[in-house]
Amino acid sequence: MEPLLELRQVKKHFPIYSGGLLRTQHRLLKALDGVNLSLERGACFGIAGESGSGKTTLARLVLLLERATSGEIVLDGKNAARLTNKETAWYRTRVQAVFQDAASSLNPRMRVIDIISEPLEIQREKLDRHQIELRTEQLIRRVGLSAATLRMYPHELSGGQKQRVAIARAIILHPALVVLDEPVSALDVSIRAQILNLLADIQAAEGISYLIIAHDLAVLQNVTTQIAVMYLGRVVETGNTDSVFNDPRHLYTQALLAAVPRPEPGRVKRAPALSGEIGNAMDLPTGCRFHPRCPQAQAMCSQIEPLLKTIKPEHQTACHLV
Ligand SMILES: Nc1ncnc2c1ncn2[C@@H]1O[C@H](COP(=O)(O)OP(=O)(O)OP(=O)(O)O)[C@@H](O)[C@H]1O
Ligand SMILES: [Mg+2]
Repeated sequence: MEPLLELRQVKKHFPIYSGGLLRTQHRLLKALDGVNLSLERGACFGIAGESGSGKTTLARLVLLLERATSGEIVLDGKNAARLTNKETAWYRTRVQAVFQDAASSLNPRMRVIDIISEPLEIQREKLDRHQIELRTEQLIRRVGLSAATLRMYPHELSGGQKQRVAIARAIILHPALVVLDEPVSALDVSIRAQILNLLADIQAAEGISYLIIAHDLAVLQNVTTQIAVMYLGRVVETGNTDSVFNDPRHLYTQALLAAVPRPEPGRVKRAPALSGEIGNAMDLPTGCRFHPRCPQAQAMCSQIEPLLKTIKPEHQTACHLV
């Protein structure tokens, strides 16, 4: 069966102007630089990587908030760059978003009922007020809040409650895919598991696919089926979540995992903690982008860019040393 979503060699290069008022010169900031990924229907695909690796840029492209510089984003076999107006409207019902900071993504002047039901307005068949109330009541309970919440404004809700409202809004149109950019990072640790459990429940019940972005690898371990680890605009390791977590091959993945506190110490090969900072996407290192920080880098690592290679079925990594 064709995948739900495919990214093929996707690049997003931002021109950064300098040269004063005339904006005569520009350099390219390569936020994404050739990303491939394939998301099966019903899958929960995680994206990990340090700040600046391009995760949000990827989410924004998939959400049609931004256009790729090159490459293809294909949903249900349709190329996102070549949609008619009608297909764009269809795409926007099929793919929904949940952002990190519900406080700023929810309109403070709208009541919860209107926030949740707003996406219904882009549908052709308009529902009357009564139908909207029934539907939003169902949804608000689905995300674990009481019907009374519908009359409230966002500022009356806690962070976790706001994120529940954002989730209700994201699923009201029965999307095929929800893109979640750091959905729990702004929440207290004690609330995170609740929200992740809710997301897992909804996914199991509704068959929605998720593309979920998180700094914190622990967040991805329990909810995702596949993950991709990004570094400076590229995927450096990808595969089944279990395989990547239990047998990480890229030194960057190993270092990220070493930083995760785990209940079973020693289960994963120890790796040195990451030193230095993620490089500059305007001035990328030659060869392997990770080589300036890699404790095992060799001469070829600074000369030749490694491509993803398959090391096991469903597990690939881009490292010369593997
Ligand atoms: N609109 C923009 N114009 C110029 N540069 C941008 C723009 N958006 C993002 N960038 C740059 O692209 C790179 C990737 O940014 P992005 O926000 O995608 O990273 P991220 O992985 O989401 O990081 P974080 O974990 O901090 O959210 C960064 O160098 C960022 O400064
Ligand atoms: Mg981001």
